[in-house]
Amino acid sequence: MLNLRNLDQLLKENLKDKIIFIRVDLNVPIKDEIVLDETRIERIIPTINALLEKESKICLLSHFGRPDGTNNSKFSLNKIISSLEKHLKKDILFIENSFEENVKEKIQSSSNNQIVLYENTRFHDGEEKNDQDLAMKVAQNADYFVNDAFSVSHRSHVSTVGIAKCLPSFSGRYLEKEILMINKSLSTNSGERLGIIGGSKISTKLKVLENLTENVDKLFVGGGMANTFLLAKGFKIGKSLCERSMINTANNILLKAEKNNCEIVLPIDALVAKDMEKGTSFNETSIEKIPSDALILDIGSKTISKITDILQEMSTVVWCGPLGLFELNPFQTGTVSIAKEISMLTKDKKIISVAGGGDTVAALSQSNYNKDFTYISTAGGAFLELLAGEKLPGLEVLRQ
Ligand code: 3PG
Repeated sequence: MLNLRNLDQLLKENLKDKIIFIRVDLNVPIKDEIVLDETRIERIIPTINALLEKESKICLLSHFGRPDGTNNSKFSLNKIISSLEKHLKKDILFIENSFEENVKEKIQSSSNNQIVLYENTRFHDGEEKNDQDLAMKVAQNADYFVNDAFSVSHRSHVSTVGIAKCLPSFSGRYLEKEILMINKSLSTNSGERLGIIGGSKISTKLKVLENLTENVDKLFVGGGMANTFLLAKGFKIGKSLCERSMINTANNILLKAEKNNCEIVLPIDALVAKDMEKGTSFNETSIEKIPSDALILDIGSKTISKITDILQEMSTVVWCGPLGLFELNPFQTGTVSIAKEISMLTKDKKIISVAGGGDTVAALSQSNYNKDFTYISTAGGAFLELLAGEKLPGLEVLRQ
């Protein structure tokens, strides 16, 4: 149970003609005016449809990019309208430049076939400061607030926290699903739990690493951050990326893991190269024999076999961060091989698999094995903060 005021509670109200603000995350990747990944749009549909069935007036609020409080057409949400209309099967009534104005009548008079969309919330200086005056002005236009944007719930902004304080507020279906699935990967009662953490720096995932040592039985550390752990354990890593200032921290995490009975697993071999140029020649070498002029760019085949063996014993796996320089062929091999194994085990119902975090999702989509994961979170920073055991302001304001 999430202990949040939820959509089912709101649906018990008489919502006919009531104006409902839904905070969604339309911060989607776009190229040449085309939305490249519509997952965040597809997943808000159940909440919107449930509220439309109650004949309420829906009004969507979202940010797009980081315009820093200025009205910059490069970050206009008008680029998302056609994709939204396609998925909603409704017309969008776009409200520009009037976040602070009284537009209640305009919203009220929108037709049944229309959904209102406000322009980018971050065009307003007060948004990211969670300015309460601004929150009150915006909130005067609605009767209820629903947050269906887990991915931005780690931000204390007007559109995530301020308005929620001014109106009866509830969580949406998609937000709930994200949290339920992430929690599921960390709290199964039966069987062992594996955490896989990659990416380049310990410093950006320090709290995640610490918190996972309390919540998983085994924690595999890959990617650039594994190099700092290897260094802390006395291995030579050549010219590989690492954070020398984090060696003590790495040692503390190793100690904490031991105390918590969590086994930290590190790479036992690696793919190394002399540079990161396209087509660079590479070798596979054991972790004890990394040449002094080499860069570790991916995990090696023995490490892949080791994780594959570990996965057979697990009942859940939570994964955040690529295991190598996946943008450069062939250093995606480790990430892709592990994704393949997890997807097969998930398909065979042997494991519950959850992955998230910006680069992870990009790396997994590249692998094409992402479709069989139990759940892929669309959140980046919020996913990390939840894994780190942090309190997210956008969720705290929805507590029962
Ligand atoms: C995301 O894409 O992770 C969310 O939309 C949050 O965006 P932000 O990091 O700019 O707040």
